[in-house]
Amino acid sequence: MPISTDTFKKLCGRWTTGVTIVTTRHGDTVHGMTVSAFTEVSLDPPLVLVCADKGSTTHPVIEGGGVFAVNVLARGQEALSNKFASSKEQEKRFDGLTVDIGVTGAPILQGTVGAFDCRVEAAHEAGDHVVYVGRVEWLRVDESADPLLHQSGAYGGFAAS
Ligand SMILES: Cc1cc2nc3c(=O)[nH]c(=O)nc-3n(C[C@H](O)[C@H](O)[C@H](O)COP(=O)(O)O)c2cc1C
Repeated sequence: MPISTDTFKKLCGRWTTGVTIVTTRHGDTVHGMTVSAFTEVSLDPPLVLVCADKGSTTHPVIEGGGVFAVNVLARGQEALSNKFASSKEQEKRFDGLTVDIGVTGAPILQGTVGAFDCRVEAAHEAGDHVVYVGRVEWLRVDESADPLLHQSGAYGGFAAS
């Protein structure tokens, strides 16, 4: 049975995720975009993965620099998520933000739930995306922050049952 793109998108949209901003650096070029396709992969060694659209501006910067940081957004950071997902004024995404520089050189955003600072361990082409597996070289977590969630185009928070 052929797969309908609409139905595929609908079911993917129902999959509830956290929201991250994946930041990266290649030389003097710093970039970042909103990413929900993130997961932990391995504890020992500590590995995570993100999926980047081959057509995104972020993809070649990760490819060139070989580093990325996964900034896990907190509730209240919806505007930041939208800013880093918008195709308008991409070059102004970091304007007005105070960022720390991670050990890999990737920008670490403030006010988040935490961040994984990673060096690319492997890159797998997968259709129109590239799966980047990163080895975590540094991380921080704020256990008091509530993670931002995303489902079917809307933001929300977690409610324990
Ligand atoms: C909630 C949310 C999740 C997203 N997840 C991803 C993702 O996992 N991978 C991806 O490549 N783009 C994802 N995007 C889309 C990018 O953020 C968007 O295309 C962005 O403009 C790309 O920026 P760039 O071209 O400057 O790199 C997501 C957007 C939103 C709003």
